[in-house]
Amino acid sequence: MKKLNKSFASDNWSGVCPEVMIALQQANAGHVEAYGEENDFYTRDAIKKFKTLFGDDISVFFVYNGTAANVLATSHVLRSYQAIVSAKSAHMNEDECGAPENFGGSKILEIETEDGKIRTGQIEPFLHSIGFQHHVQPRIISISEVTEKGTVYTPGEIKGLTDFAHSHNMLLHMDGARISNAAVALGVTFRELTTDVGVDVLSLGGTKNGLMFGESVVFFDKNLAKDFEYTRKQGMQLHSKMRFISAQFDRYLTRDLWKKNAQTANRMARLLEKSLRLFPQLNIARSVDANGVFVSIPPEIIPRIQQHYFFHIWDENTSEVRLMCSWDTTEEDINGFAEALKKILQH
Ligand SMILES: Cc1ncc(COP(=O)(O)O)c(C=O)c1O
Repeated sequence: MKKLNKSFASDNWSGVCPEVMIALQQANAGHVEAYGEENDFYTRDAIKKFKTLFGDDISVFFVYNGTAANVLATSHVLRSYQAIVSAKSAHMNEDECGAPENFGGSKILEIETEDGKIRTGQIEPFLHSIGFQHHVQPRIISISEVTEKGTVYTPGEIKGLTDFAHSHNMLLHMDGARISNAAVALGVTFRELTTDVGVDVLSLGGTKNGLMFGESVVFFDKNLAKDFEYTRKQGMQLHSKMRFISAQFDRYLTRDLWKKNAQTANRMARLLEKSLRLFPQLNIARSVDANGVFVSIPPEIIPRIQQHYFFHIWDENTSEVRLMCSWDTTEEDINGFAEALKKILQH
């Protein structure tokens, strides 16, 4: 079979990291109580790991995918007339096929951003709707950490948003599909990015950083988590062989595996940035905070490079493409990409 180059399309194009694959294999022994019930020690142990990293007062639920984590986390705490405020570019808003609106019934109020981050000043205009019966009622501010434009919110920025949310009877949801890459980029713990700065509910991802599948919903207030098990089941996200999600998370959160994988992905993105900056024909306009590089490439050569290393076009107008590095990206991959680019630009 022809060996394909690794792609830079997305970090979920990579495989499963070896440590997690071993954990899956080990979990494949004997019988274990289904649905993550009391005697499923894999689920118990994984939840303990979450508590070690985020604090004891959390409630954790495993689901299959990130869209479900976002949709269930938010719809569980919203009435249908309450709205989510998010960046226009948010995955919830642009890449979940209307699932939040369909399942939760809630409208998303979008904010245009330059760098994927929302600021309190941009939320203020929506406050005029509060108490006005003709308008949806803003109730959740949802941010992505890392953002869909490759940037990272600092703990201080998150605290600014949670304080703002709480002072207006709103909640802060974080889409942490890439929270590991953000934590590594900032050199902070998960706790410093969430518990300590007032996040109310988090979708924590693993698939993009070495898991086979499995995401989680973490509530930082037990009252918000009340009855979530019914929301998850009704939302068709209760995995019957739960141990296979739990065992992956257990290993992922042990001996800093999450950190090791994210460090590699982020380091490779910086290396990629450095090698692309040597080409005067390219333009990297965004800051490379985590594991994604956004670069404008002359449009006529994009299909030719894609034949060697696939990636997605992010903005047709500016010919900006997104190059994602993952836990298994190597220096060889970066050099190979730069070589292919060089040859194409020379001919
Ligand atoms: C920011 C963000 N959130 C959530 C997701 C979850 O996606 P999925 O439902 O494919 O697991 C993704 C995947 O691309 C993402 O990039």
